[in-house]
Amino acid sequence: MIGDRVQLQQVLLNLIINAIEASSVVSEGPRELLVKSQMQGPGEVVVAVSDSGVGIDGKNLDQLFNPFFTTKPEGLAWDYRSAAR
Ligand SMILES: Nc1ncnc2c1ncn2[C@@H]1O[C@H](COP(=O)(O)OP(=O)(O)OP(=O)(O)O)[C@@H](O)[C@H]1O
Ligand SMILES: [Mg+2]
Repeated sequence: MIGDRVQLQQVLLNLIINAIEASSVVSEGPRELLVKSQMQGPGEVVVAVSDSGVGIDGKNLDQLFNPFFTTKPEGLAWDYRSAAR
């Protein structure tokens, strides 16, 4: 699988912005944003983004990867998965 360079940048940017938005709601404790990348094999990389924000409501988990699912008034929730296809 070969990812599209620009779309993968958009995916990563979205995950980072999601993390910042989720963290801006939390007023106590340190705000942490962790971006990890690791070679998984030849031509394969795993990128993980984690944050210390509000977290994801369990009842939304199964909808998370649906295009246009958003809990934000201004959210678009574009289908970022298509970047990896
Ligand atoms: N890091 C996160 N912490 C908590 N909730 C998250 C996080 N990332 C995503 N979510 C939840 O998943 C939903 C979908 O995220 P997605 O990035 O697809 O769309 P969005 O951020 O709402 O809109 P857009 O990306 O267009 O601004 C968000 O509305 C939010 O409820
Ligand atoms: Mg987003």
